[in-house]
Amino acid sequence: MARRKLIAGNWKMNMTSAEGAQLIKDIKAQFGAECPCTAVNKPDVLVCPPFTSIAAVIEAAKGTCFNVGAQNIHWEEKGAYTGEISGNMLNELGVTYVIIGHSERRQYFGETDDTVNKRTKAALKHNIKPVICVGETLKQRQAGETLAVIENQVRAALKDLTAEDMKNVTIAYEPVWAIGSGLAATNEDAQEVHAMIRGLLKKLYEGTSVADETRILYGGSMNDANAAGLLAQPDIDGGLIGGAALKPDKFAVIIKAALGK
Ligand code: PGA
Repeated sequence: MARRKLIAGNWKMNMTSAEGAQLIKDIKAQFGAECPCTAVNKPDVLVCPPFTSIAAVIEAAKGTCFNVGAQNIHWEEKGAYTGEISGNMLNELGVTYVIIGHSERRQYFGETDDTVNKRTKAALKHNIKPVICVGETLKQRQAGETLAVIENQVRAALKDLTAEDMKNVTIAYEPVWAIGSGLAATNEDAQEVHAMIRGLLKKLYEGTSVADETRILYGGSMNDANAAGLLAQPDIDGGLIGGAALKPDKFAVIIKAALGK
């Protein structure tokens, strides 16, 4: 079956409410009458602003096909977890997706495979679609450990998840060395890892359609110049985009590349 592509912008710690609402307007303006919502093979489009801008961005995105997501979720419902956000709070805002386990969180904020799994379960419980990030460091790639590292991260993130749960899960392969570096993975290197992840899903969910239906995004310096090539790979089902998602013209080109235009 054909997987609908997902083009997701990770705004990271950028964009106040006013700036975020303006960015949505500016992205929309790139399409004119040709809004991607109306295309037959339209990709899903997602933007993930910082928590404080979510409400304003949801308001600005009304009447468009843009989904709005968060960048984190805690596994407890409430309590003494300073600086964290619960599923209920995200439900109240109306977010539909959440990025989990981004390498910046793993690197700077103590995110582990175990907490990624807990956050994923919390998102599913709250009907928010998790976008789970995995990726190897440059050192791990140079040591030939890429596939093993990714396999471990995927297995841990999906621990105890059923085939039913997987209907709402997206995986994002984001090589750490490619993020924000301007140095994206080649089409072939990215495809190799994506195919491995899909093969692993086949093993983990044998006898189900999970491997065929799960979207696997590529992230790490995806931009207007390389998106078409990456998105043309058989196992790349979209992109998780940082820097270029803040530039309306570039983000629009990436969305159009997913439309096959
Ligand atoms: P980048 O970030 O596109 O700026 O490399 C991608 C990401 O971190 O999700």
